[in-house]
Amino acid sequence: MDLDRLEERLAEAGQSHLLRFWDQLSPEEQAELAHELEGMNFIEINTFFKNAVATSGQAKQEQVDSRMEPLPREVLGSVTRDRESLKEWEAEGLRCISQNKVAVLLLAGGQGTRLGVSYPKGMYDVGLPSHKTLFQLQAERILRLEQLVEQQQHVNQCCIPWYIMTSGRTMESTKEFFSKHKYFGLKEENVIFFQQGMLPAMDFSGKIILESKGKLSLAPDGNGGLYRALGKHKIVEDMERRGIAYVHVYCVDNILVKVADPAFIGLCLLKGADCGAKVVEKTNPTETVGVVCKVSGHYQVVEYSEITLATAEKRSTDGRLMFNAANLANHFFSLPYLKDVINAYEPQLLYHVAQKKIPYVDTQGQLINPDKPNGIKMEKFVFDIFQFAKRFVVYEVLREDEFAPLKKADSQDGKDNPTTARHALMSLHHRWVLNAGGHFIDENGTRLPAIPRRGPAGAHSHDDSQNLKDGMDLQIKCEISPLVSYGGEGLEKLVHGREFQPTLIIDESGIHENVKNGL
Ligand code: UD1
Repeated sequence: MDLDRLEERLAEAGQSHLLRFWDQLSPEEQAELAHELEGMNFIEINTFFKNAVATSGQAKQEQVDSRMEPLPREVLGSVTRDRESLKEWEAEGLRCISQNKVAVLLLAGGQGTRLGVSYPKGMYDVGLPSHKTLFQLQAERILRLEQLVEQQQHVNQCCIPWYIMTSGRTMESTKEFFSKHKYFGLKEENVIFFQQGMLPAMDFSGKIILESKGKLSLAPDGNGGLYRALGKHKIVEDMERRGIAYVHVYCVDNILVKVADPAFIGLCLLKGADCGAKVVEKTNPTETVGVVCKVSGHYQVVEYSEITLATAEKRSTDGRLMFNAANLANHFFSLPYLKDVINAYEPQLLYHVAQKKIPYVDTQGQLINPDKPNGIKMEKFVFDIFQFAKRFVVYEVLREDEFAPLKKADSQDGKDNPTTARHALMSLHHRWVLNAGGHFIDENGTRLPAIPRRGPAGAHSHDDSQNLKDGMDLQIKCEISPLVSYGGEGLEKLVHGREFQPTLIIDESGIHENVKNGL
């Protein structure tokens, strides 16, 4: 270790305070700190900070607001309004998947702070009868889709590789979990882990924060850290070797996620898209979702943290929110586009700034837990690159079929928590059984009422609380393994004309009704 050189570099970058407690550290702690610091480019980090701070804040919000326009109709494909095209989109997507050209990529580097767990969110069990975790549900959907494609497209071996981006905080536990569960039936070589970068938290004057005497306060660099990580770990090269041409990128927390959704992929292909996004209708102005829109003529997501309330509340003449295309964090990219992003566009992106309460050690070495924001974290967002798309497509789907994110613990405000996620999945599966001609009865043999099916997105004015209420009131416990059905298909032969007493579980081993305590 060359301490003099390190001191010099830190002094040049105005970050000498990082060695303030050097003499109080053990040799091991010194080695660790030096190793961490030696790997960092302080001049680059200082530039990130300067640019991020210069372009953040209220003034920026207002500027963005004034340049926002809703999506033009021609980029939209809708699961309800374009019902007659759905089959064609799906067929195109399945055909492409059968040629082994489609990969899925999971963003799983987040820290799950709001959910309040110390392990990766994908390992969370929301309390389904099967107790499957988010990772397991996603893995089984991939497996089932591969089987479906093999059967329907008459191909021998369909493979949808699964790329999983983790962070320094989630890598080891995620890998261990997959290995312990034997990759949930997937082939190990088709589950590829890679790690995103970390950035230091900084105080408002640009000084890197120490979380202890010998440790920097580091956090993942946002889900837009994806592009740097793809380049650094040569993931695109791996995709090319496998013949991948299109990638479905998604976030870990949506329990209803349709991984490699053939209809979404087919729509994007038929429209010649290089980049696409899935949305549902946003009906509540304060819902914590980004909105897909245009800003100064370019497609973009304006994140919930970066839109003013006045703009979020704007309504069109039909009474709907003007900016109502809620970002599901489900994106489509062609491989050539991803390559351009990595090589040319990503370096142009600025970091978003989040002011946070960041624990730090003061000049005396005391650990302080601040009660108001004392610094910033910098993040790039996965959708920041939409602005560079040459052909952008948006696919509008139904919230109750495709969107129930897990963000917070049950103790919080009744939205986006384990209970709502569990209910959303079971309510979807309940509807699958009804649509396939099955019925539910209570313990006296009386038929239970069916959940009223919603009309097209936006046909009703409903909000999250109404969704939740419907789910609660009519909750029938029903869970169908993704290994049996990917999207409601193939159930007629199992349930048509039959009556079931909940809890109903349909899995690879058969039909189990009146299950008391889960399987
Ligand atoms: C995200 C979207 C938001 C969308 C909402 C839908 C972003 C930036 N925002 O918001 O527009 O409406 O989902 O639920 O995408 N992650 C990483 N590395 C990181 C940080 C996060 O991989 O450094 C992953 C997380 O593991 C998660 C996903 O990115 O899978 C979303 O992260 P999160 O911070 O929960 O996003 P939201 O704020 O909920």
